[in-house]
Amino acid sequence: MDVSKSVPLSVAAERAIVIKSPEELAVMRRAGQIVAAILARLVKEVRPGLVTAELETITQEELKRQGALSSFKGYRGYPASLCVSINDEIVHGIPGPRVLKEGDIVALDMGTIVDGFQGDGATTVGVGKIGPRARRLIEVTQGALDAGIAAARGGAWLGDISAAIQEYVESRGFSIVREYVGHGIGRQMHEEPQVPNFGERGTGPRLRKGMALALEPMVNAGGWRTRVKEDRWTVVTADGSLSAHFEHTIAITDGEAEILTRL
Ligand code: MF3
Ligand code: CO
Repeated sequence: MDVSKSVPLSVAAERAIVIKSPEELAVMRRAGQIVAAILARLVKEVRPGLVTAELETITQEELKRQGALSSFKGYRGYPASLCVSINDEIVHGIPGPRVLKEGDIVALDMGTIVDGFQGDGATTVGVGKIGPRARRLIEVTQGALDAGIAAARGGAWLGDISAAIQEYVESRGFSIVREYVGHGIGRQMHEEPQVPNFGERGTGPRLRKGMALALEPMVNAGGWRTRVKEDRWTVVTADGSLSAHFEHTIAITDGEAEILTRL
């Protein structure tokens, strides 16, 4: 989520984290499975020469076919149901006339609403053959998400997730974006708490069964600073370096977290 567009921290801190019942989590599981299925389909479509608007068309068709609504379209005026962020674009790229070319890396981010509950997920893939640094960046970002999920055990602290992600990324020589963070999710796409991808172990709220979180590390090959393009949506790296993004919606249990957006 975009921190700058969210409510001030002082207000946000007073809003409670909503615990989901097993029945509500069952609905969120369905929302998450549709996210996973659509992202898998989109990944198969990615190839040199593809116009990114085509990915939006497929997303809309698939949402309709699966009986789900888009959580993105119309959100604060966002014009599409998918975000396509290429190379130095970090998040919130708008599908359009741009043509994918061999060697690009493409982050695909989408969200669903099913029976009033949301799922949110993202993945990054290469277009055709990509360079070794791009491949490594994708690998490390995926690994960072996995490390965050591994830390998201019932009884742990929110800061344990943040620290696990930050350490994973920085120890491998990349940087973690700070101005955009993960989030609680449920009836709203963005609920409490914010889930920063950097922080200290043993801080923040305690993780407990029935919390649902979207973890979404955004990792840059260069520095962590960002800039928003003239379209007022697309977030790019300030230094023009490559960036990758992975996201899963997870449910906290008494043990390991359950990944709701994995097929
Ligand atoms: N996964 C992103 C987020 O959690 C996607 C939001 S894009 C928007 O913020 F268009 F819906 F804003
Ligand atoms: Co999200």
